[in-house]
Amino acid sequence: MKPRIAVVTGANKGMGRAVSEKLASQNYHVVMVGRNESALKKTAIELIEKKYSVETFTADISQKEDCEKLIEHIDKKHGRLDVLINNAGIFIDESKECSDLAFKDDVMKQTMETNAMAPYRLMKGLIPLMRKNGYGRVVNVSSGLGSFEGAASYCLSYSVSKATLNMLTKLFASEVDGIKIKVNAICPGWVQTDMGGKGAPRTIEQGISGMFWAATLDETGPNGGFFRDGSPIDW
Ligand SMILES: NC(=O)c1ccc[n+]([C@@H]2O[C@H](COP(=O)([O-])OP(=O)(O)OC[C@H]3O[C@@H](n4cnc5c(N)ncnc54)[C@H](OP(=O)(O)O)[C@@H]3O)[C@@H](O)[C@H]2O)c1
Repeated sequence: MKPRIAVVTGANKGMGRAVSEKLASQNYHVVMVGRNESALKKTAIELIEKKYSVETFTADISQKEDCEKLIEHIDKKHGRLDVLINNAGIFIDESKECSDLAFKDDVMKQTMETNAMAPYRLMKGLIPLMRKNGYGRVVNVSSGLGSFEGAASYCLSYSVSKATLNMLTKLFASEVDGIKIKVNAICPGWVQTDMGGKGAPRTIEQGISGMFWAATLDETGPNGGFFRDGSPIDW
């Protein structure tokens, strides 16, 4: 059987690296996407040495042109896509101030481009390829901080960007048939990565379990939900 094709953004480290390895270990061919070419290649070589089928694609996903090039690459080289994991994300809010005046335009713009606009562009460009092939799983890596229950004033832009990603999840999910193609958002919990820090309670392995679950749902699985560890959580 031909391997399924998966795209994972932010694949050079953290949960992106780990979920790429997990998918590759299950006979997926993984297109590992990252903006730091040398770090990305180094990570990919480690997986190739384990005999996994991966390739790299260098892209700064906050740039529209880079997203377009990635979409074109997948179409031309593979002509299909089975799994898209919108994992790349940034958390650059610096303010400790609990005030709406602490919003910073440049932080908001960069955060929205990376955490919300890039998944939007990639879903818009890549779901049609899934439709062509009659199969697709989209996993938007969100955060409890993007829920209206979980919003926190110490991460203003990040919370807004993940709430936007959640709404995009709902809207794209409503546009697919929900059986052959599914679009879901997941929260990995607070995880020990560069973003989460060493004090986080969850291991990377625990963090990616919900991502892998959503990437490999069978046709009875949910569409248009928000999950942590496979269980629904509040928007
Ligand atoms: N860790 C947590 O506790 C936690 C909790 C909830 C949700 N999340 C979400 O989980 C996802 C993965 O986070 P993580 O903890 O694994 O973070 P991480 O270790 O900081 O990794 C983030 C990845 O995203 C990449 N990235 C960022 N901006 C990019 C861009 N413009 N173009 C291409 N790649 C870009 C990074 O590349 P560089 O190496 O080049 O920076 C890196 O590979 C994120 O969406 C995050 O918001 C994390």
